[in-house]
Amino acid sequence: MAAENDIVYLNGRFLPLEEARISVLDRGFLFGDGVYEVIPAYGGRLFRLDEHLSRLESSLDQVRIRPPLIHQEWQTILNRLLPDDRDRSVYLQVARGVAEKRDHAMPAKSTPTVFAMSSELDPPYDVHAGVGAITLDDTRWKLCQIKAITLLANILLRQEALDRNCAEAILIRDGVVSEGAASNVFAVIDDVLVTPPKSHDLLPGITRDLVLELAHANAIEAREETISAEALPFADEIWLTSSTREILPVVELNGKCVGDGAAGPVWRRMYGIYQAYKQLLRSP
Ligand SMILES: Cc1ncc(COP(=O)(O)O)c(C=O)c1O
Repeated sequence: MAAENDIVYLNGRFLPLEEARISVLDRGFLFGDGVYEVIPAYGGRLFRLDEHLSRLESSLDQVRIRPPLIHQEWQTILNRLLPDDRDRSVYLQVARGVAEKRDHAMPAKSTPTVFAMSSELDPPYDVHAGVGAITLDDTRWKLCQIKAITLLANILLRQEALDRNCAEAILIRDGVVSEGAASNVFAVIDDVLVTPPKSHDLLPGITRDLVLELAHANAIEAREETISAEALPFADEIWLTSSTREILPVVELNGKCVGDGAAGPVWRRMYGIYQAYKQLLRSP
């Protein structure tokens, strides 16, 4: 989390976190009416910024909020939230803003509330040891491609996983894997790396796309294909990907070993490739 004396950005100003205030009539607060991004920064440099900003633009467009800032303005703001070259994650949120009256209908005019902060990024897991996951019914809405701040379903699903001593819930919709509660899912099945194709059932993860890109560049056979709920427990490897957790091997699914119960060889290879790619950013 951001420390108390951290500087954050709110509506055109940089100020200490404890001084940042919004109206209780802000639709982000009342309705979860807004979208967000989480962007990692390694060695003080934002990772895959263009991709994150174009996904932000797409989310804004789909929820009918006019982009409050252009690319260069975002870049300047976000860079100011990186005071040193420590690895960080930057959170940015755009909510529809304040309306005079609490009403579901969108106000004819409102000024978006723009907020951004950064926090230190230290992976909470020993990635090489892997994590446990459970499968759960995907109880979310039908517009999962939008990175909306309305995350109550994801919160309940993630918490259920944590309550069962697992790191993530892998979600099943109509008999197939959609994604994790806050991650995308990959599986190694018959020596092929597979991840579900993009659809309204999952967030188009920036890490997901990068893993596919790196797989293709390194002759690792990879396909965008549905993964059935029945096939998942028999996968040789299962991974979760996200900007903050990178590529995390799942070694136990619903209490049973995935493969031989340890991070697999394809993961080890991809993890090395991914770390080398990050290193390029540190020392271009
Ligand atoms: C539901 C969901 N899917 C996938 C992801 C992974 O996306 P990215 O790799 O862009 O962080 C996230 C990230 O938080 C997420 O919340």
